[in-house]
Order: sequence, then structure tokens, then C-alpha cells
Amino acid sequence: MSQESRRAGAISPMNAALTSLFERLLRDSGSPTSPEWDATDSRLDPAVYHDPAILELEKSRIFRRLPLCLGYADQLREPGSVLARDLLGLPILMTRDRTGEIHVLLNVCRHRGARMVKDENEVCRHSGLSCPYHAWTYELNGALRGVPKPEAFPLVDKRHSGLRKLPSVVRHGFIWAILDPAQTDIDVASFLGDIDDDLATLGLGEHYFFRQRVQRRATNWKLMLDAFQETYHIKKLHAPTIAPFFTDVNPAGEAVGLHTRILVGRDRLADAETLPSEQWDLRRHATLTHVIFPNSLLIYHPDSTSHMGMFPTGPNEMTFVHTMFIPEDAKTEKQIAHWDRNFTMIDGGVFSAEDLFISEQIQIGVASGANEALVFGRQEHHLRRFHENVRAMIETKD
Ligand code: FES
Ligand SMILES: [Fe+2]
Repeated sequence: MSQESRRAGAISPMNAALTSLFERLLRDSGSPTSPEWDATDSRLDPAVYHDPAILELEKSRIFRRLPLCLGYADQLREPGSVLARDLLGLPILMTRDRTGEIHVLLNVCRHRGARMVKDENEVCRHSGLSCPYHAWTYELNGALRGVPKPEAFPLVDKRHSGLRKLPSVVRHGFIWAILDPAQTDIDVASFLGDIDDDLATLGLGEHYFFRQRVQRRATNWKLMLDAFQETYHIKKLHAPTIAPFFTDVNPAGEAVGLHTRILVGRDRLADAETLPSEQWDLRRHATLTHVIFPNSLLIYHPDSTSHMGMFPTGPNEMTFVHTMFIPEDAKTEKQIAHWDRNFTMIDGGVFSAEDLFISEQIQIGVASGANEALVFGRQEHHLRRFHENVRAMIETKD
């Protein structure tokens, strides 16, 4: 991590796109619905949340094709760090080898397919990998190191029998990979488009990994994406927690290719009206959200940053991974206790007890037959576009 890390309490720098979004937030905050949004409401077939055939298409045509954020370089801070995680039905291994390089591998032995490392939901330290079945051994970069009784395998070429690699890259501190070992290229900068510059400007790669919680929840993966693309629910659903910190004005949001950036006014938004733009504070006057298609959300809290990954395990359930990043490493007991309180409020209170709770309730509701169609109003415009993008991709064969 560099010495340039953003300090807690400092104003986050903004690029031209974020400044213009902030201007729009101030300009349009008084209107009941955004002037750019058309007057029609739109309808969504509830089957998108529970039809197994739709999920299979989403998996093959979206999740196996696009770069996904699977982990964080700083989570694997030390050489020898290994994290096993099952995502979208694939056993995945993320490692940092002795030279510091990060690898994303399939957690599957090349002898007869045994799982190499158990998914313990935490980072372990290893100097190499040894298969629990017949003890073939591998380097942390996946290379096959040793085969007991090698004379029994005259045809195995060790050079070509390493663990299968997924195309992967570290960018902005995130480990991105494509869940298809047949693909060789991954271009995250192009995939992110203008969001790439936002992440660089906000210095995400300089932040420190603090805490992560992984939960299996009984909701379709898209319902959590929906929850972060409108603010219509904040005053009611989040009344016990964060509602007092937010205004009820329109957010300013825009499409960035398949992705979205949304800026929501906080209770101190009015203070920004009298300040020069250099003093507009993206994290205190407002809260920025990046929706990175298909399944990542980044929320920029006043001091910390949350990344959420939604990974379907079935049409009615998903693995939910929430990770918190902080601007300075937490070393003392006091610092750790401070950020732990922050994490517990956001993860346990806002995300788990409120957004995930209501998503699970909706999951029951959408399969009940009560609604032939779900209605998106003029404040739920971004959800409509998100679902149109999903539909367009699953209807495209190539
Ligand atoms: S399956 Fe791994 S060594 Fe046999
Ligand atoms: Fe919410």
C-alpha cells in the first residue's frame, strides 16, 4: 500500500464525470422526479427472479463471459496466501505466490479431479498445494510440482498438467477473472469504460482490506442489485438505521455502458450549495454507488467503502460477499474496534437486516402469483435499464 492512501476524513477527489454528476444532483434535487426520465412506467415479469431456465442463461451468457470481481489483492496481502471459494458452481482458488503474483485457478486436481483446498471461507497460508487424494503437489502459481510414483504415469507431461488457470488481472486492488478457462484474454479497463477512471480517481487500489462476510441468502441475485439502484425505499426500509443521514431528493444517476453511477444526497447536501466545487465532498454531502455489471456494487460511505458481490447458487438463492475497505490500516485495538462497529452497523444492520431481509421477502412474493407484473416507477429508472441489459444479453447467443 502506498503512503498516498486517502486519510479518513479527507475529501475524495473527483474527476470531470463525478463533478458533473454532483452538479446534476444539486441542480435537480428539488424536482420530484428526474427531468430526463420518461413518463411511462414499466413492468417486469416476476419470472426473472425465479425461473431456473433464465438463471441458466444468465450463468452461461453473462456470468461465464464477463470479468467478475472475485476478491481483493490486499486480502491476500502476504506471499503464500490462499483463498478457496466456490462461486457459480466452480471451485476457485486465489493465491499469491512467493514472488507476490496473484493467480486465479480452478481448485481441481489434474489427476482425477479432487478438490485441492477446502473452502474454509478464510485466507490460509501455504508454501505449496497438496492434493488430499493421492498427494500430487502443485506450486502456488498452479504448476505441477510432484507426482508420487511418477513411473506409473509415463504419459503425463508435468509442464502441461498444472492447475487450470482462469484469465485474471488485478486492477484497482480487485482480483478480476473470467469464469471460463477456455478464454485467454481479460481487458478490465475496456470492460469498465469510464468507471475505470472513477476507480482510479477514488484511489480504490490504495485502500486496505478490513473485513469480509460471506452469507448464503434465499434471494435471487438481481434483487440486491435492484435495492441499490433506487433510493425510493430509503426513508421506509432504512428508518431504523441510515434514513436520517439521507435526503429524500432525487439521486443523480447515469449509465456508463452496462454499468451505472448513482449519487445520492445526504443530509448535508444543502451545505454544498454555497461551497466552491473543490470542496464538494462525494462521501459526506452525498453517497456514490457504482453498479458494475453484472453483480458488483461499490458504496462509498463517509470513511469506508463497501464492495458487494452477488453470486447465484440457484434461482432462489445466492452467495452474498460483502467486503469493507478502509483508508488507513487498522493496527491498534482502538482502530479495529472503531471499524468493527462500522462494519457491524453496515453489514449486520443495513445490508443484512434490511436490504437482504426485504429481498428474501420479495423472493417469496414473486413466486406467489400475486403480481402478474412488477411496476417500476419514475424513481426506479435504473432498475429498468439493468433488467433490459440482462435480458438483451441472455437473448444474444454469441
Ligand atoms: S485426484 Fe489429486 S492426486 Fe489423485
Ligand atoms: Fe437499501
